[in-house]
Amino acid sequence: MRAIGTAAGFAVRVAGDGDAGRIATLSEQLGYPTDEGAVLERLHAIGQRPDHAVFVAEAKGNVVGWVHVYAVPMLESPAHAEIGGLVVDEAHRGRGIGRALMARAEAWARDMGLGVVRLRSNVIRAEAHAFYEHIGYAQVKTQKVFAKTLEAAK
Ligand SMILES: CC(C)(COP(=O)(O)OP(=O)(O)OC[C@H]1O[C@@H](n2cnc3c(N)ncnc32)[C@H](O)[C@@H]1OP(=O)(O)O)[C@@H](O)C(=O)NCCC(=O)NCCS
Repeated sequence: MRAIGTAAGFAVRVAGDGDAGRIATLSEQLGYPTDEGAVLERLHAIGQRPDHAVFVAEAKGNVVGWVHVYAVPMLESPAHAEIGGLVVDEAHRGRGIGRALMARAEAWARDMGLGVVRLRSNVIRAEAHAFYEHIGYAQVKTQKVFAKTLEAAK
């Protein structure tokens, strides 16, 4: 089977260790500054879990986008897939790469037997919201996200 996006000059594939540096750079564009070492560690942790997947888009040997998708088992409703993060390099937006990454994540979810893909997106990301709506997603609720920083375990 031809990789998604090949005809458009990019290909989507499973992320590997060698992608950590570019994933970190792109994470910064997403608003989450990090470094190659931290991403590599997380890639290893995620890689050991069959209920998570990370895909990258590669153009001319350069990683230009990534998506993280994972399964979420729930008590009150059937399990679904959730997008952990999605970003396309600023210099490569508008070429169908985001759509192709989402299509790959959706195919993975289908293969996992999951019937719904959900994602959370900050209210300030108006452009991303328009993108998601354009590729078939509908806003189903508005939430507040709460967090508490825990003291280190002794
Ligand atoms: C959102 C994002 C991933 C989209 O990636 P992209 O590669 O530029 O999007 P694509 O080129 O695949 O666009 C797919 C379709 O959506 C449309 N689209 C893209 N951005 C759009 C926008 N802001 N408004 C309306 N439509 C849009 C495209 O026109 C295209 O339509 P078509 O396939 O009918 O021609 C990218 O802009 C990005 O990385 N943004 C910053 C990070 C971010 O916000 N991530 C999401 C966090 S929740």
